[in-house]
Amino acid sequence: MSDLILVPGATGGVGQLVVSKLLEKGLSVRILTRNAAKAEKMFTNKVEIAIGDIRKPETLPQAMSNITSIICCTGTTAFPSERWEFDPQPNILEWGQALFNPQLIESKAKNTPFIVDYQAVENLVNAAPKNLQRFVFVSSCGIERKNQFPFNILNSFGVLDAKQKGETAIINSGIPYTIIRPGRLIDGPFTAYDLATLLQITTGGKLGVVLAKGDQLNGDASRIDVAAACVESLFSPNTENQIFAIGNQGQRPDQIDWQQLFSQMNIT
Ligand SMILES: NC(=O)c1ccc[n+]([C@@H]2O[C@H](COP(=O)([O-])OP(=O)(O)OC[C@H]3O[C@@H](n4cnc5c(N)ncnc54)[C@H](OP(=O)(O)O)[C@@H]3O)[C@@H](O)[C@H]2O)c1
Repeated sequence: MSDLILVPGATGGVGQLVVSKLLEKGLSVRILTRNAAKAEKMFTNKVEIAIGDIRKPETLPQAMSNITSIICCTGTTAFPSERWEFDPQPNILEWGQALFNPQLIESKAKNTPFIVDYQAVENLVNAAPKNLQRFVFVSSCGIERKNQFPFNILNSFGVLDAKQKGETAIINSGIPYTIIRPGRLIDGPFTAYDLATLLQITTGGKLGVVLAKGDQLNGDASRIDVAAACVESLFSPNTENQIFAIGNQGQRPDQIDWQQLFSQMNIT
Protein backbone atom coordinates (compact mmCIF):
# COMPACT_ATOMS: atom_id res chain seq x y z
CA MET A 1 0.00 0.00 0.00
CA SER A 2 1.50 3.38 -0.93
CA ASP A 3 1.59 6.17 1.61
CA LEU A 4 -1.54 8.31 2.00
CA ILE A 5 -1.44 10.85 4.79
CA LEU A 6 -4.64 12.25 6.33
CA VAL A 7 -4.36 15.82 7.61
CA PRO A 8 -7.22 17.00 9.84
CA GLY A 9 -6.85 20.76 10.42
CA ALA A 10 -5.22 21.24 6.98
CA THR A 11 -6.83 24.66 6.55
CA GLY A 12 -5.10 25.98 9.70
CA GLY A 13 -1.71 27.67 9.96
CA VAL A 14 0.41 24.60 10.72
CA GLY A 15 -1.91 22.35 8.68
CA GLN A 16 -1.38 24.30 5.43
CA LEU A 17 2.37 24.05 5.86
CA VAL A 18 2.16 20.32 6.65
CA VAL A 19 0.25 19.74 3.41
CA SER A 20 2.84 21.75 1.40
CA LYS A 21 5.69 19.80 2.95
CA LEU A 22 4.02 16.44 2.28
CA LEU A 23 3.39 17.40 -1.36
CA GLU A 24 6.98 18.64 -1.69
CA LYS A 25 8.08 15.15 -0.65
CA GLY A 26 5.87 13.57 -3.28
CA LEU A 27 3.47 12.03 -0.76
CA SER A 28 -0.25 11.62 -1.37
CA VAL A 29 -2.43 13.73 0.90
CA ARG A 30 -6.05 13.60 1.96
CA ILE A 31 -7.29 16.45 4.05
CA LEU A 32 -10.18 16.35 6.47
CA THR A 33 -12.10 19.61 6.58
CA ARG A 34 -15.48 21.04 7.45
CA ASN A 35 -15.17 23.63 4.72
CA ALA A 36 -14.76 22.20 1.19
CA ALA A 37 -14.87 25.60 -0.54
CA LYS A 38 -12.06 26.99 1.65
CA ALA A 39 -9.98 23.84 1.12
CA GLU A 40 -10.49 23.77 -2.67
CA LYS A 41 -9.40 27.39 -2.93
CA MET A 42 -6.34 26.65 -0.80
CA PHE A 43 -5.16 23.41 -2.39
CA THR A 44 -6.64 23.47 -5.95
CA ASN A 45 -6.77 19.79 -6.93
CA LYS A 46 -3.47 18.94 -5.26
CA VAL A 47 -5.03 16.87 -2.46
CA GLU A 48 -8.00 14.59 -1.88
CA ILE A 49 -10.67 16.32 0.17
CA ALA A 50 -12.75 14.45 2.74
CA ILE A 51 -15.56 16.45 4.29
CA GLY A 52 -15.90 15.81 7.99
CA ASP A 53 -16.13 17.32 11.43
CA ILE A 54 -13.97 15.67 14.05
CA ARG A 55 -16.70 16.29 16.64
CA LYS A 56 -19.01 14.00 14.67
CA PRO A 57 -17.78 10.38 14.60
CA GLU A 58 -20.23 9.47 11.83
CA THR A 59 -18.39 11.82 9.42
CA LEU A 60 -14.98 10.19 9.93
CA PRO A 61 -14.96 6.63 8.47
CA GLN A 62 -14.94 7.73 4.81
CA ALA A 63 -11.85 9.86 5.45
CA MET A 64 -9.97 6.89 6.91
CA SER A 65 -9.98 4.44 3.98
CA ASN A 66 -6.49 3.40 2.83
CA ILE A 67 -4.66 6.03 4.90
CA THR A 68 -1.25 5.08 6.29
CA SER A 69 -0.67 7.96 8.75
CA ILE A 70 -2.49 10.89 10.33
CA ILE A 71 -0.98 14.30 11.08
CA CYS A 72 -3.53 16.03 13.30
CA CYS A 73 -3.22 19.84 13.28
CA THR A 74 -6.69 20.72 14.55
CA GLY A 75 -7.27 23.19 17.35
CA THR A 76 -9.36 26.06 18.58
CA THR A 77 -8.51 29.19 20.53
CA ALA A 78 -7.32 28.85 24.15
CA PHE A 79 -9.63 31.71 25.16
CA PRO A 80 -13.25 32.29 24.12
CA SER A 81 -13.59 33.56 20.54
CA GLU A 82 -15.94 33.14 17.57
CA ARG A 83 -14.10 29.85 16.87
CA TRP A 84 -15.79 28.42 19.93
CA GLU A 85 -19.06 28.68 17.98
CA PHE A 86 -21.33 30.09 20.65
CA ASP A 87 -24.97 29.09 20.47
CA PRO A 88 -26.54 31.09 21.99
CA GLN A 89 -24.15 34.03 22.39
CA PRO A 90 -23.44 34.77 26.08
CA ASN A 91 -24.86 38.05 27.37
CA ILE A 92 -22.70 40.86 28.80
CA LEU A 93 -23.13 39.65 32.36
CA GLU A 94 -22.02 36.15 31.43
CA TRP A 95 -18.94 37.50 29.61
CA GLY A 96 -18.13 39.44 32.78
CA GLN A 97 -18.26 36.24 34.80
CA ALA A 98 -16.23 34.22 32.28
CA LEU A 99 -12.86 34.30 34.04
CA PHE A 100 -14.38 33.34 37.40
CA ASN A 101 -16.76 30.79 35.97
CA PRO A 102 -15.36 29.35 32.71
CA GLN A 103 -17.96 26.54 32.65
CA LEU A 104 -20.76 29.08 32.22
CA ILE A 105 -19.26 30.27 28.93
CA GLU A 106 -18.13 26.82 27.81
CA SER A 107 -21.61 25.39 28.19
CA LYS A 108 -22.82 27.79 25.48
CA ALA A 109 -20.08 26.91 23.00
CA LYS A 110 -19.81 24.05 20.51
CA ASN A 111 -16.08 24.13 19.61
CA THR A 112 -14.21 24.58 22.88
CA PRO A 113 -10.77 23.13 23.71
CA PHE A 114 -12.44 20.32 25.70
CA ILE A 115 -14.49 19.36 22.65
CA VAL A 116 -11.88 19.90 19.90
CA ASP A 117 -8.61 19.01 21.62
CA TYR A 118 -9.94 16.11 23.68
CA GLN A 119 -13.28 14.61 22.64
CA ALA A 120 -12.80 15.14 18.91
CA VAL A 121 -9.21 13.85 18.99
CA GLU A 122 -10.54 10.75 20.75
CA ASN A 123 -13.08 10.42 17.91
CA LEU A 124 -10.23 10.48 15.40
CA VAL A 125 -8.31 7.84 17.35
CA ASN A 126 -11.37 5.59 17.50
CA ALA A 127 -12.01 5.96 13.76
CA ALA A 128 -8.36 5.47 12.73
CA PRO A 129 -7.35 2.19 11.02
CA LYS A 130 -5.80 -0.21 13.52
CA ASN A 131 -2.81 -0.72 11.20
CA LEU A 132 -2.02 3.00 11.03
CA GLN A 133 1.75 3.51 10.81
CA ARG A 134 1.82 6.78 12.78
CA PHE A 135 -0.51 9.26 14.49
CA VAL A 136 1.27 12.61 14.71
CA PHE A 137 -0.42 15.09 17.03
CA VAL A 138 0.30 18.81 17.36
CA SER A 139 -0.14 19.40 21.08
CA SER A 140 1.33 22.23 23.20
CA CYS A 141 4.18 22.92 25.55
CA GLY A 142 3.18 23.57 29.17
CA ILE A 143 1.11 20.42 29.60
CA GLU A 144 3.34 19.18 32.42
CA ARG A 145 3.65 22.70 33.90
CA LYS A 146 0.03 23.79 34.08
CA ASN A 147 0.46 25.36 37.51
CA GLN A 148 3.38 27.55 36.46
CA PHE A 149 3.24 30.99 34.85
CA PRO A 150 2.42 31.60 31.99
CA PHE A 151 0.83 28.17 31.45
CA ASN A 152 -1.61 28.64 34.36
CA ILE A 153 -3.01 31.66 32.49
CA LEU A 154 -3.03 29.83 29.14
CA ASN A 155 -4.95 27.03 30.83
CA SER A 156 -7.67 29.33 32.23
CA PHE A 157 -10.23 27.72 29.94
CA GLY A 158 -8.68 24.27 30.07
CA VAL A 159 -6.77 24.12 26.77
CA LEU A 160 -3.78 22.33 28.31
CA ASP A 161 -6.03 19.92 30.24
CA ALA A 162 -7.82 19.10 26.99
CA LYS A 163 -4.62 18.66 24.97
CA GLN A 164 -3.30 16.33 27.67
CA LYS A 165 -6.45 14.21 27.53
CA GLY A 166 -6.13 14.15 23.73
CA GLU A 167 -2.53 12.97 24.09
CA THR A 168 -3.59 10.25 26.53
CA ALA A 169 -6.28 8.97 24.15
CA ILE A 170 -3.63 8.66 21.42
CA ILE A 171 -1.06 6.98 23.70
CA ASN A 172 -3.64 4.48 25.02
CA SER A 173 -4.81 3.55 21.52
CA GLY A 174 -1.81 1.32 20.83
CA ILE A 175 -1.26 3.13 17.51
CA PRO A 176 2.37 4.24 16.99
CA TYR A 177 2.40 7.95 17.78
CA THR A 178 4.49 11.11 17.79
CA ILE A 179 3.33 13.96 20.00
CA ILE A 180 4.84 17.36 19.25
CA ARG A 181 4.58 20.17 21.81
CA PRO A 182 5.33 23.57 20.28
CA GLY A 183 5.93 26.77 22.17
CA ARG A 184 3.95 29.86 21.19
CA LEU A 185 3.50 29.67 17.42
CA ILE A 186 5.15 32.35 15.31
CA ASP A 187 5.74 32.75 11.54
CA GLY A 188 2.80 32.80 9.15
CA PRO A 189 0.17 31.87 8.18
CA PHE A 190 -0.93 33.89 11.22
CA THR A 191 -4.15 32.13 12.15
CA ALA A 192 -4.18 32.58 15.94
CA TYR A 193 -5.88 35.47 17.74
CA ASP A 194 -2.86 36.49 19.81
CA LEU A 195 0.03 38.91 20.15
CA ALA A 196 2.19 36.91 17.73
CA THR A 197 -0.46 37.47 15.06
CA LEU A 198 -1.01 41.11 15.98
CA LEU A 199 2.72 41.84 15.76
CA GLN A 200 3.33 39.32 12.93
CA ILE A 201 6.27 37.85 14.87
CA THR A 202 8.66 35.77 12.76
CA THR A 203 11.99 34.03 13.13
CA GLY A 204 13.12 35.79 9.95
CA GLY A 205 14.46 32.38 8.94
CA LYS A 206 17.41 32.99 11.25
CA LEU A 207 16.78 30.78 14.28
CA GLY A 208 17.80 27.18 14.70
CA VAL A 209 15.48 24.37 15.80
CA VAL A 210 15.68 22.80 19.24
CA LEU A 211 13.86 19.64 20.31
CA ALA A 212 13.63 18.27 23.83
CA LYS A 213 11.86 15.20 25.11
CA GLY A 214 8.91 15.81 27.41
CA ASP A 215 7.97 19.37 28.27
CA GLN A 216 11.24 21.15 28.94
CA LEU A 217 11.30 24.01 26.44
CA ASN A 218 10.20 27.63 26.69
CA GLY A 219 9.80 30.26 24.01
CA ASP A 220 8.46 30.49 20.50
CA ALA A 221 8.16 27.90 17.75
CA SER A 222 7.99 28.58 14.02
CA ARG A 223 4.90 27.13 12.34
CA ILE A 224 7.20 26.27 9.42
CA ASP A 225 9.47 24.16 11.63
CA VAL A 226 6.58 22.58 13.54
CA ALA A 227 5.09 21.48 10.21
CA ALA A 228 8.45 20.15 9.05
CA ALA A 229 8.89 18.23 12.33
CA CYS A 230 5.45 16.63 11.83
CA VAL A 231 6.30 15.45 8.34
CA GLU A 232 9.91 14.44 8.97
CA SER A 233 8.92 12.44 12.05
CA LEU A 234 7.01 10.05 9.74
CA PHE A 235 10.39 8.92 8.38
CA SER A 236 12.17 8.51 11.71
CA PRO A 237 11.99 5.43 13.97
CA ASN A 238 13.49 7.70 16.66
CA THR A 239 10.22 9.60 16.91
CA GLU A 240 7.96 6.55 17.26
CA ASN A 241 6.05 6.65 20.55
CA GLN A 242 7.89 9.82 21.57
CA ILE A 243 6.71 13.10 23.03
CA PHE A 244 8.89 16.12 22.43
CA ALA A 245 8.78 19.89 22.61
CA ILE A 246 9.97 22.11 19.78
CA GLY A 247 11.20 25.69 19.74
CA ASN A 248 13.50 28.05 17.89
CA GLN A 249 16.77 29.17 19.43
CA GLY A 250 20.35 29.96 18.38
CA GLN A 251 21.70 30.42 14.92
CA ARG A 252 20.07 28.54 12.07
CA PRO A 253 22.38 26.23 10.11
CA ASP A 254 22.23 26.26 6.30
CA GLN A 255 20.07 23.17 6.43
CA ILE A 256 18.10 21.58 9.28
CA ASP A 257 19.14 17.94 9.65
CA TRP A 258 15.91 16.53 11.10
CA GLN A 259 17.11 12.97 11.40
CA GLN A 260 20.12 14.12 13.42
CA LEU A 261 17.93 16.30 15.64
CA PHE A 262 15.60 13.36 16.27
CA SER A 263 18.44 10.97 17.11
CA GLN A 264 20.16 13.46 19.45
CA MET A 265 16.86 14.08 21.21
CA ASN A 266 16.78 10.40 22.18
CA ILE A 267 20.27 10.44 23.63
CA THR A 268 19.92 13.54 25.81
N1 LIG B 1 -1.19 29.41 18.72
C1 LIG B 1 -0.23 28.97 19.51
O1 LIG B 1 0.61 29.74 20.00
C2 LIG B 1 -0.12 27.50 19.81
C3 LIG B 1 0.86 27.08 20.72
C4 LIG B 1 1.02 25.70 20.94
C5 LIG B 1 0.22 24.79 20.27
N2 LIG B 1 -0.75 25.24 19.41
C6 LIG B 1 -1.55 24.24 18.70
O2 LIG B 1 -0.99 24.08 17.40
C7 LIG B 1 -2.00 23.56 16.52
C8 LIG B 1 -1.95 24.30 15.21
O3 LIG B 1 -2.17 25.69 15.45
P1 LIG B 1 -2.65 26.62 14.24
O4 LIG B 1 -2.41 28.02 14.67
O5 LIG B 1 -2.08 26.12 12.99
O6 LIG B 1 -4.22 26.29 14.29
P2 LIG B 1 -5.38 26.99 13.47
O7 LIG B 1 -4.83 27.83 12.39
O8 LIG B 1 -6.30 27.60 14.46
O9 LIG B 1 -6.11 25.76 12.75
C9 LIG B 1 -7.00 24.94 13.40
C10 LIG B 1 -7.55 23.95 12.40
O10 LIG B 1 -8.46 23.08 13.11
C11 LIG B 1 -9.61 22.94 12.31
N3 LIG B 1 -10.77 22.63 13.14
C12 LIG B 1 -11.21 23.29 14.24
N4 LIG B 1 -12.31 22.71 14.72
C13 LIG B 1 -12.58 21.65 13.90
C14 LIG B 1 -13.58 20.66 13.87
N5 LIG B 1 -14.56 20.64 14.78
N6 LIG B 1 -13.56 19.70 12.88
C15 LIG B 1 -12.58 19.73 11.94
N7 LIG B 1 -11.58 20.65 11.93
C16 LIG B 1 -11.59 21.60 12.90
C17 LIG B 1 -9.77 24.29 11.61
O11 LIG B 1 -10.59 24.11 10.49
P3 LIG B 1 -11.57 25.27 9.94
O12 LIG B 1 -10.78 25.94 8.87
O13 LIG B 1 -12.73 24.48 9.42
O14 LIG B 1 -11.93 26.13 11.12
C18 LIG B 1 -8.32 24.58 11.26
O15 LIG B 1 -7.97 23.91 10.06
C19 LIG B 1 -3.32 23.67 17.27
O16 LIG B 1 -3.65 22.41 17.77
C20 LIG B 1 -2.99 24.59 18.43
O17 LIG B 1 -3.76 24.28 19.57
C21 LIG B 1 -0.92 26.57 19.16
